[in-house]
Amino acid sequence: MDLGRDDKLAELIISGDKPLCGEVTIGGRKNSAVAVIPATLLAAGTNTLSNLPAISDICTYNDILRHLGAVTQEPSNGVMRIDTSKATPEKSPPLEMVKAIRASYYLLGALLGRFGYARVGFPGGCNIGQRPIDQHLKGFKTLGAKVHTDHGEVVVEASGSRLQGAHIYLDVASVGATINIMLAAVLAEGTTVIENVAREPHIVDVASCLNSMGAKVVGAGTDTIKIHGVQEMQPTSHAIIPDEIEAATYAIAGAATRGDVTLINVVPKHLDAVTAKLGEAGIRVEENGDWVRIAAAKRPRAVSLKTLPYPGFPTDAMPPMMVLLSLAEGTSMVSEGVFENRFDHVEELQRMGTNVRVEGRTAVIEGVKRLHGTSVKATNLRAGAALVIAGLRAEGETVVSCIEHVDRGYEHFDKKIKALGADITRVQDGGDEEDSSDGPADDGDSGQVVSFSQS
Ligand code: UD1
Repeated sequence: MDLGRDDKLAELIISGDKPLCGEVTIGGRKNSAVAVIPATLLAAGTNTLSNLPAISDICTYNDILRHLGAVTQEPSNGVMRIDTSKATPEKSPPLEMVKAIRASYYLLGALLGRFGYARVGFPGGCNIGQRPIDQHLKGFKTLGAKVHTDHGEVVVEASGSRLQGAHIYLDVASVGATINIMLAAVLAEGTTVIENVAREPHIVDVASCLNSMGAKVVGAGTDTIKIHGVQEMQPTSHAIIPDEIEAATYAIAGAATRGDVTLINVVPKHLDAVTAKLGEAGIRVEENGDWVRIAAAKRPRAVSLKTLPYPGFPTDAMPPMMVLLSLAEGTSMVSEGVFENRFDHVEELQRMGTNVRVEGRTAVIEGVKRLHGTSVKATNLRAGAALVIAGLRAEGETVVSCIEHVDRGYEHFDKKIKALGADITRVQDGGDEEDSSDGPADDGDSGQVVSFSQS
């Protein structure tokens, strides 16, 4: 899979203040893909996954699966074949792989479910708070697993020959815990009921993938999931749903640059929380079938919001949204309701001229008329996307370093943005410039970008 990157550190150089205009095709959902890939471990045989995004987290998962003995093909045009027949939990994956991504925690549920044993290092991912996994472990224990930690790794082991179905109430509606407990419970003996679960659309996607493998999961998308354990599962073919955070990022970038952007291959309903706020801010939003169009001719109005689990405003779209609100007329308040520490992009945004004050878990944003380019550093995936959007709107040149964070979750980010009319160049550490002008055609339909004139 061509990620438009190599292993060297990269930065993006943006000459800003140009509207983004055109169509951008949205890829498969990162947070669904990184759960469905380990889910394939639950059955022996060859699975085919499609609409996978061309992002580095998928490459990392591919490396992890190979380490566990699965035979995988390099993803091509969003399609990946995974033969899990020879996978084994005996070789615990190297810590550097496990720490490179958050979703490595799904190996615990999937390996425990199929083999009754897993040994996996604590996960990594974006540094946006403490991010404990106590609810995942509580779920495994309730299903009858013994859990302990050893040299920085979590070891989970079924007490008998199979896990036992159980009643589990989550203290927080955690996305990761909901999926991980589903993965462990599908092959358990008897029925599992999980209450106070997260309701994100990718939980429904993972449940439907599991059901296509022979599992019996009902209620995904509601706050209670019931799982009737089965003896065995079979390999599957599954297409990943579109990525609503990638879509939200381009929608916000279009609005912030006073552009006109149409998102192709989206589920408009999944974007409701974001498009509703864009509408309140005075941005024109049109949608139909599988597309959403965002057009902004003037300065947005200030709006306030609080991030919440789905169907609330997504925490992952909050850093980009703060850039738009930094340019709005008036004062906006943004409260972070999911993670306790997610404002580390604010310091870098302030260096570009935003007027943002953080008070606990709330940011008070006084809108400014213009931003100015400077050198800034991406500290995590969504913070990096926010800084790029700020650079697209800023006067002068912006250099965003540590773009490898962004490559974890946005496929061909700079190429897609360039095809929408931006002046953006990727430079690898050492000064090599990469040509972003050819667009992301190498990724087939998940990367197609077509320009059209602004109306
Ligand atoms: C996932 C997503 C991430 C998204 C987040 C919220 C992946 C790989 N990542 O992260 O992009 O921002 O959902 O939509 O899918 N918590 C606990 N104990 C636990 C688990 C979570 O206290 O065992 C807390 C967390 O600290 C956080 C909240 O619950 O405050 C929500 O976290 P969770 O939904 O689990 O997020 P992640 O799965 O880490």
